[in-house]
Amino acid sequence: MKFFVDTADGDAIRELHALGLVDGVTSHPSLIQTSGRDILEVTREICSFVEGPVSAEVVALTADEMIAEGRKLAEIAPNIAVKVPLTWDGLKTCKVLSDEGKMVNVTLCFSANQALIAAKAGATFISPFIGRLDDINMDGMELISDIRTIYDNYGFDTQILAASIRTVNHVTQCALVGADVMTAPPNVIKSLASHPLTDKGLEQFMKDWAKTGQKIL
Ligand code: E4P
Repeated sequence: MKFFVDTADGDAIRELHALGLVDGVTSHPSLIQTSGRDILEVTREICSFVEGPVSAEVVALTADEMIAEGRKLAEIAPNIAVKVPLTWDGLKTCKVLSDEGKMVNVTLCFSANQALIAAKAGATFISPFIGRLDDINMDGMELISDIRTIYDNYGFDTQILAASIRTVNHVTQCALVGADVMTAPPNVIKSLASHPLTDKGLEQFMKDWAKTGQKIL
């Protein structure tokens, strides 16, 4: 499973990138707002060191305007994936831009039928939002599993980009049901390394080592 980082914070991406943990990056208008940065400038900076797909989201609501915004965003770098919402106009935009050879990430997906229609419109990535479904007492992980089954049944090559990941358990479940990619905030990715028994074991090792009076260096 590929790891994308869900942030527009360049420093946080660099820290994870140094460990080889960044296969791509996603953001959305709310994350751009949080960063306080200009979308073109921050996306250009991220593309200067991230080799994999970097999603940049359009903000227009009509297909003609989305297509124009998508083309402008795609000029930033060859690894831009234009992110469009799962609306009728977003699907039109997806078809036009994917026919031009651009990567398209169709976002705000909350149903298997939406994922099916996005794949037929040529989406490179479909972004089902797990956490936001869980927030309204629906099963986000069941949606990932259903999309996996449907795409495999018909040989769609659209990649399932599991989004709105809030916990390390979401990451494990996504890997188990076969998501192609997961995108998570930096703090969730860093939490993957943590386990209380690791901390407890290390503390005991350090206590016992101190008793030996030895040094390695
Ligand atoms: C990524 O592409 C999504 O926009 C993101 O994962 C949404 O996460 P949230 O529901 O926690 O805002």
